[in-house]
Amino acid sequence: MYDVEKIRKDFPVLGIKINGKPNTFLDSGASAQKPRCVIERVCEIYSKEYANVHRGSYSLSEKITSDYEKARQTVQKFLNAKSASEIVFTRNATESINLVAATWGRKFLTKIDQVIISEAEHHANLVPWQILRDEIGFELKICKIKDDGSFDWDDFCSQLNGNTKLVAITGMSNVLGTIFPLKEIIASAHRRGAKVLVDACQLAVHQKIDVQELDCDFLAFSGHKTYGPTGIGVLYAKYELLDAMPPYQYGGDMVDVVTYQATTFDVPPARFEAGTPAIVQAIGLGTALEYMMNLGMDNITAHENELTAYTLQKLSEIDGLKQIGTAEGKGGVFSFVMDKIHPQDLAFILDKEGVSVRVGHHCAAPLVRRMGYESVVRASLGLYNTKQDIDILCSALNKAKTFF
Ligand code: ALA
Repeated sequence: MYDVEKIRKDFPVLGIKINGKPNTFLDSGASAQKPRCVIERVCEIYSKEYANVHRGSYSLSEKITSDYEKARQTVQKFLNAKSASEIVFTRNATESINLVAATWGRKFLTKIDQVIISEAEHHANLVPWQILRDEIGFELKICKIKDDGSFDWDDFCSQLNGNTKLVAITGMSNVLGTIFPLKEIIASAHRRGAKVLVDACQLAVHQKIDVQELDCDFLAFSGHKTYGPTGIGVLYAKYELLDAMPPYQYGGDMVDVVTYQATTFDVPPARFEAGTPAIVQAIGLGTALEYMMNLGMDNITAHENELTAYTLQKLSEIDGLKQIGTAEGKGGVFSFVMDKIHPQDLAFILDKEGVSVRVGHHCAAPLVRRMGYESVVRASLGLYNTKQDIDILCSALNKAKTFF
């Protein structure tokens, strides 16, 4: 049984007051709060266990190296990857995608190829491909979404062809909440011989991901959104792809033999982790993913689905509020605007009521523009949110109307 009140007690920050009001945190889409087990694990490492990894032949270093590699195995379990060697630790999902563009992309994409992304991509899954396109000269195609935010399957199929080398697509829009039909997209892309990269930043928070079942080639997510520390991200890639990719950065820990004349490189994943990694953050991420898996990914999804339905209903009852992104089966990300109130003013008023939301283009400016806006307010759910949080949001929204 999913006891959300008990779960909330695991997150100390939820107990603080914001402007004298209960902390109604509805910005987990930007970064999630941390459970006590993660905070304590990070503290414990710095207090009693800290040393560098992969270097020292002394007890502290051996123990922390083993914990760092165990964290990689936890990520493997979380994604159901075939092997822990398919898990590369990065700084965040942005770095994971940049890594693929700079290594796989630069080596394998040519002038005659096409890369397809969607209109719903975060800048992190748009800009790296634009920059690489400018360098290599391939065609960057943008497949459409419909006005309700759903994936335009017909447009995707019409764009996909034998020259498509990569489809780089989000699993869940950080603005619209749309959940993309990944399995079908991946199967279609593969039939045309294209590889698929999934930006799973939002999806990994809300749903179980099985990379073997999806059969994606690359998948990226960030630790700080999955209740772990900042400064740690994950790139999953099929081992044969990693094995064929050149290094991303050069230096310590990623080499095999180094002479003054030349260098050979280690096998993946070490090849892609140059320098001292984010050791504590990686172990903290392992603790966060264990926390989610102990709650049960299916239980988290069921709780959030119920809350999503509740939120959609409650927001629809507010006169003058327009929801942006209403695709069937969407997840717990709600963007909206209100008549006569600038989104920035609205967010300011909500904050006074203790409600934290994000406002702006959400690092997806072309998407927000495509939906007809420059700036929107976004409330996003985490596994600790309740119907009461939504009631507080809605009463703050109604109060905001009285000021205008
Ligand atoms: N990508 C994060 C968001 O959507 C920061 O807010």
